[in-house]
Amino acid sequence: MMTSMEQRYRRILDVMISLGQEQVLRFWPDLTDAEKMSLLDQLESLSAEQLQRQSDLIKQYRAETAPRPLQLEPFPVIPLAASAAERTRDQQAAKVGRELLRQGKVAVLVVAGGLGSRLGREEPKGCVEIGPISRRSLFQFHTEKIIRLEHLYGKPILFLIMTSEQNHTDTIQYFHRHHYFGKNPDTLFFFSQSSQPAFDQYGKLLLRSRHALALSPDGHGGLLAALQRHRLVDRLQNAGVELLYYFQVDNALCRIADPLFLGHHVLQQAEMASKSVAKRNAEEKVGVFCRVNGRPAVVEYSELNETLRNQRDDQGDLRFKQGSIAIHIFNLAFFTRLFETKVQLPYHIALKKVPCIDGQGRPITPERENGYKLEQFIFDALPYARNTIVVETSREEEFSPVKNASGLDSPETATRALVELFGRWLEKAGVAVPRGPDGLSRHRLEISPLYALDEEELRSKIPCKLEIIGDTFFD
Ligand code: UD1
Repeated sequence: MMTSMEQRYRRILDVMISLGQEQVLRFWPDLTDAEKMSLLDQLESLSAEQLQRQSDLIKQYRAETAPRPLQLEPFPVIPLAASAAERTRDQQAAKVGRELLRQGKVAVLVVAGGLGSRLGREEPKGCVEIGPISRRSLFQFHTEKIIRLEHLYGKPILFLIMTSEQNHTDTIQYFHRHHYFGKNPDTLFFFSQSSQPAFDQYGKLLLRSRHALALSPDGHGGLLAALQRHRLVDRLQNAGVELLYYFQVDNALCRIADPLFLGHHVLQQAEMASKSVAKRNAEEKVGVFCRVNGRPAVVEYSELNETLRNQRDDQGDLRFKQGSIAIHIFNLAFFTRLFETKVQLPYHIALKKVPCIDGQGRPITPERENGYKLEQFIFDALPYARNTIVVETSREEEFSPVKNASGLDSPETATRALVELFGRWLEKAGVAVPRGPDGLSRHRLEISPLYALDEEELRSKIPCKLEIIGDTFFD
């Protein structure tokens, strides 16, 4: 008589043979019972249909020589206010946004499921310390900004933190250790996105060990499935929320629940809205807002060819200049429609270094890219939105991502960007900020989000005749 485990094994082996993936069970006889169980659980959680589709995609991707031609046009943006009329427009929008916050119609979501492989740290990226003096982490900055908004608008703001299977526990433990940075834990939701298996060049599943697949997060587009799985849209709607304010954990300057952006979103009757900044140069690694075959989209830097990346308009500006800083607003009703119509976001394929084992079970730490990962991107929801807007913002005010361990877009540049931001706020409040020959602040400056969220708030609080004579922290 076969045990239930043997029965499961037989059934899964048949499925794997039919998919040409039986190599994942090649070490079966050597495994302990616990390892067998865990491998079967992993394999059973995969959908055969999806696996076939993914494996075919990889084979097809490798066979394709030339990328398919796309009709690309730049997407028009609501520009930064330059005239009196535009400033009035912005004031009206901000008023609408503030009202939404007062009514408790906005929840906030951070995507923090990425592995941060470029940063090369074990801990979740949100734990990276960037506070110029306090050494506050990204997570602390983000959470305290939300706490300040709760005080300003008199309503609790639900904060959703999307993690991945790889960093879920570490993230929760980090928040717990820090007492949720003072935010009421009942207003925090930690939920995990799913994982996807990695494939070799022939579309075969890679194993990380004899009893485990090589898995990685399914991309921030995995948010759609995760929201559904955790029934989060219903929970938010039951709490009276209508809009979800989305951002990435790595942006040290992110303005959270920005009333101006919220107001534009509502006044323009958008279902999904995005923020952009002018690209630093053609090579900056940000996606750009385009119309692809007439529909709004973000085209990733890796998917925009060199000619288009460098194309200039009549004024000599980059034609595809509006870079995505991955800040969006979603109507919850838009998510519901995507779920009801069973929209499947496309997979993007990336060739990456994937630690795995070889046919003899020996570990491989690859020096070159050896595996294909499939990810879904949330911005691929853009073409499905009934109306969408892109609002331009200023890089110095709102975008300083932590991507690399050093150099460009690193913890160091994020800390510097904060000092310079706070320096400008202080100067606008009438405080002299000593600057070096390079124009940068001589001293480290930091303003806690709990003290002031923007230059206006700072101006209303700053003591008169303040002099900056050394590192200064407003807490
Ligand atoms: C991303 C955007 C790019 C944008 C840039 C701005 C993509 C594919 N591209 O680039 O258009 O201009 O940010 O900084 O996102 N994440 C998850 N789960 C995942 C993968 C990522 O939550 O499975 C999160 C990460 O934690 C991070 C964010 O998504 O907060 C961005 O991921 P990252 O891989 O750093 O994106 P970039 O390639 O830098």
